[in-house]
Amino acid sequence: MRVKGKVALVTGGGSGLGEAMSVRLAQEGATVVVSDINESSAQRVAADIGGDAVAMHQDVTDEARWTQILADIVERFGRLDILVNNAGIALVGTVEDTTLADWQLTNSINLDAVFVGTREAIKVMKSGSGSIINISSIEGIIGEQKVAAYNASKGGVRNFTKSAALHCCAEGYSIRVNSVHPGFIETPMVAGAVGSMSEADGDAFTTRIVGNIPMGRMGEPMDIANGVLFLASDESKYMTGSELVIDGGYIAR
Ligand code: NAI
Repeated sequence: MRVKGKVALVTGGGSGLGEAMSVRLAQEGATVVVSDINESSAQRVAADIGGDAVAMHQDVTDEARWTQILADIVERFGRLDILVNNAGIALVGTVEDTTLADWQLTNSINLDAVFVGTREAIKVMKSGSGSIINISSIEGIIGEQKVAAYNASKGGVRNFTKSAALHCCAEGYSIRVNSVHPGFIETPMVAGAVGSMSEADGDAFTTRIVGNIPMGRMGEPMDIANGVLFLASDESKYMTGSELVIDGGYIAR
């Protein structure tokens, strides 16, 4: 019961890592609001969790919806203790073949929405306390030829998180803001990215990636959910502006 009594919002909670985070936070006693642009997937996850978990429809790129959803959570549950900015997309493209539209779409979901979510959560948390966890990636620390826009968005999340963390300290808010940097984890996103390549390119990509993971395998969603649980709980009360890398050793070299 490491987050007992806390109220959490997990964006993109209807699939992959967000689903695992929602389940894990609920297992440890949190009331979890699972939000997703895909409402039926959020409903499925909330129903699987049971208890007081609820699903809410949210497109994280909709600024007005952030205000509504947070007001709704405060009205229903009295407060918000944990925000996990997890929703994200990965489009494959190098600097030469990425369209401006794909660049902007990637950044609107992966970076702009993390900014708006963090800003709005601070407004509702600052009279009490809170933990904001922004899901970046190892791709926010290192470069990868085939994901130019994704690299940019996740690098932005990494440094924006530090700015927000320092602001909360300077203002005397009891709000911690940290980023999580997953390596390659088996989720629909990774399957989708590989699936968008030709079969030969996809196979070569997977073989190269797994071959470069020192632990010799991709991670599981629960490996990331456990890191999020730690940052959400008071066990990490002296951590803010930090980067939690969970990648089987991928960027250690
Ligand atoms: P996923 O594709 O399985 O799940 C992403 C979820 O976000 C989906 O439920 C989708 O409906 C939702 N979503 C997409 N656009 C949205 C929007 N505009 N508003 C609200 N929800 C939206 O992906 P996965 O793998 O679970 O990724 C979750 C996060 O973890 C992403 O931010 C991703 O960049 C990050 N990540 C994933 C890694 C991996 O290996 N799977 C590695 C590093 C980071």
